[in-house]
Amino acid sequence: MKPTLIDAIAHDDADAIAHLKEQFEIPTGKIYLDGNSLGPVSISAKKAALNVVEQQWGNDIISSWNKHSWIDLPINTGEKIAKLIGAAPGQVICCDSISINLFKILHCALQLNPNRRIILSQDDNFPTDLYVAEGLQQILGVQQCELVSAADTDIENQLTNQVAVLLLTHVNFRNGKTHDIEKITQAAHAQGIIVVWDLAHSVGVLPLSLDEWNVDFAVGCGYKYLNGGPGAPAFIYAADRHQNSFQQPLQGWMGHMAPFDFSKDYCASQGMMQFLSGTPPVISMSVLNASLDVFDHVSIAEIRHKAIALMSFFQELKKASPELNELQLISPEKSNERGSQLAYSHPDAYEICQNLIDNNVIADFRMPDVLRLGFSPLFLSFQDIHTAITELSSIMTSESYCAAQFAAKKKVT
Ligand SMILES: Cc1ncc(COP(=O)(O)O)c(C=O)c1O
Repeated sequence: MKPTLIDAIAHDDADAIAHLKEQFEIPTGKIYLDGNSLGPVSISAKKAALNVVEQQWGNDIISSWNKHSWIDLPINTGEKIAKLIGAAPGQVICCDSISINLFKILHCALQLNPNRRIILSQDDNFPTDLYVAEGLQQILGVQQCELVSAADTDIENQLTNQVAVLLLTHVNFRNGKTHDIEKITQAAHAQGIIVVWDLAHSVGVLPLSLDEWNVDFAVGCGYKYLNGGPGAPAFIYAADRHQNSFQQPLQGWMGHMAPFDFSKDYCASQGMMQFLSGTPPVISMSVLNASLDVFDHVSIAEIRHKAIALMSFFQELKKASPELNELQLISPEKSNERGSQLAYSHPDAYEICQNLIDNNVIADFRMPDVLRLGFSPLFLSFQDIHTAITELSSIMTSESYCAAQFAAKKKVT
């Protein structure tokens, strides 16, 4: 039987973390299924934004570097993220974007395997990961660095003693399919391969134990499930055991062991500070830092538990709605094989997505034909899911998405 609004209300009443929704400012009437792309603003993030601009920058101006510890933001923010990814202190720093951090990390990882040159990745990895590795290949030359990619299902077969570095994304950005980090890292290590994980779609929403899983390096972003705001800085995890064995290539004054000595010669900082290049983006990093406070009140296990329940409720509703049959699930059917999203293919996915957005259900579209729905448990309710399905059903039944206005291609999809 198709679940009803009464069922949704019952789920919400039983939801132990339902109250966390109050910490976010979701525009009235909007159902936000795009927290996997850009998390919404939290009350603490908004307060931090006002405080850093009005008080810290406004009143205390340059003294804030010391007075408000701006200089320590990359480490302090990194340590907050460390708690979410199972990293002991001293192994995470907040800086730059994933793309830039990958450039640094891949170069470092290659240095740890000097007699090998292959970076192995996945054909349908997020494009920036492949672009960065390709860029490194161009700079270093193919004798020093060669990007090879394989199909998702063939990765484990390709783990040989020819490979220097394995670069994978934990949760596939398009279909949400997950890799088993522990198992693959172990298999790669057995062949002497250094492993780099991209956690863009995992951090803040999936249980992660990077230390326990013996991961070498990881990167992740601040603007998705960490709700750090548009363009929020990213982070790097580097296992303690490697930190004295490489020199990161984007040497800059903030990574110098004594930046205010203004020495002519570069001398890298110890530990994670060595990954800094230039001045940190204080405003956006302060906002991200504050947005992380919501995780003081909830465990990742609770978040994951609710994410699975929200997705199951969505699927139950969808399966009981024949008008939605044309939307084909491309995410794994089993919840333990996917992240916090459901993706559906449909030839008119772009138009359907635009129509949904017009009806206040915010989702996104990914080429070539994917409607992507993100399930962020911190601010979504089961009633939201019920409303989203009702809107989707109405769009599909009426075929309102065929209206010309929904076909106009936007720069950001
Ligand atoms: C898996 C993955 N990696 C990397 C990126 C891009 O990261 P950045 O813009 O911080 O370089 C994204 C963006 O959505 C992503 O989904």
